[in-house]
Amino acid sequence: MSGRICVITGASGGIGRQVCKRFIQNGDHVVMVDISKEKLDEMVDTYGLHPQIATPMELDISKEEAVREKIDEIVDRFSAIDVLVNTAGICGRYDRVVDQSFEQFQKIYEVNVFGTFLMMKYVLKQMEKQGRGCIVNFGSVSGMRGYSYEIAYGSSKWAVIGMSQTVANEYGLKGIRCNSVSPGWVDTCMMEKTKSEYEHINPGHADELIDLGPSGRAARPEEIADVVYYLCSENASYINGANIVIDGGKITG
Ligand SMILES: NC(=O)c1ccc[n+]([C@@H]2O[C@H](COP(=O)([O-])OP(=O)(O)OC[C@H]3O[C@@H](n4cnc5c(N)ncnc54)[C@H](O)[C@@H]3O)[C@@H](O)[C@H]2O)c1
Repeated sequence: MSGRICVITGASGGIGRQVCKRFIQNGDHVVMVDISKEKLDEMVDTYGLHPQIATPMELDISKEEAVREKIDEIVDRFSAIDVLVNTAGICGRYDRVVDQSFEQFQKIYEVNVFGTFLMMKYVLKQMEKQGRGCIVNFGSVSGMRGYSYEIAYGSSKWAVIGMSQTVANEYGLKGIRCNSVSPGWVDTCMMEKTKSEYEHINPGHADELIDLGPSGRAARPEEIADVVYYLCSENASYINGANIVIDGGKITG
């Protein structure tokens, strides 16, 4: 088997599957982690992925024991993990602060913050032994601006950007780079879910809340995957601790 061993979480999501495709096209082996076995099976069928190219792995990244076991399994089988991309995330229910349920808030943190942390914690143990590795986490422009109704999702993404910088600082001297990407709108089912959340808070006014910025369109998931792939390549060897905003100018324009 040639190429790198790349672990991608949220692999069967809108962005995750394009990230997987980008690494597979390069000859890397992708371990496709997702909570949904059904969606992983569908992906394997749709793209005709055979075991030499990709390994589907059902895993809830918010469960510590399961994460530890699965990372051990990957290391036993492949002896290395070169790349970790944490795309798995949920937006949950959007609400005004006073209406935000604490339970929903916790659920969002369990996946976006604790799940991203747990994946890094167990993968870094292996990367440290290897003396090399590359991690990309998923922030969001919601983690850089305090958008209304997004107290839980937005602050979870703020945490992801912060954790990425911590890892960059702690592991830079050990040959490991860690960066985050922060997309604006991306054309996936999460964008559709966000629109319906806006509609539930402001019936009839959801479209007014969708600011696409100067590009006037949402990103295609492939446009996000290209940046992730670049960050994990040798061409990005001096990029560490960065948060790359991919928003068509929404907040950067
Ligand atoms: N779509 C956007 O507009 C947008 C904008 C900014 C940031 N993002 C971020 O990009 C990332 C990918 O988003 P997307 O649009 O592809 O979303 P998506 O909903 O299409 O995909 C998310 C994937 O994560 C998986 N997942 C959810 N919980 C999990 C868990 N506990 N364990 C393992 N897998 C789990 C889901 O099954 C799904 O396949 C997310 O972190 C999201 O917050 C998305």
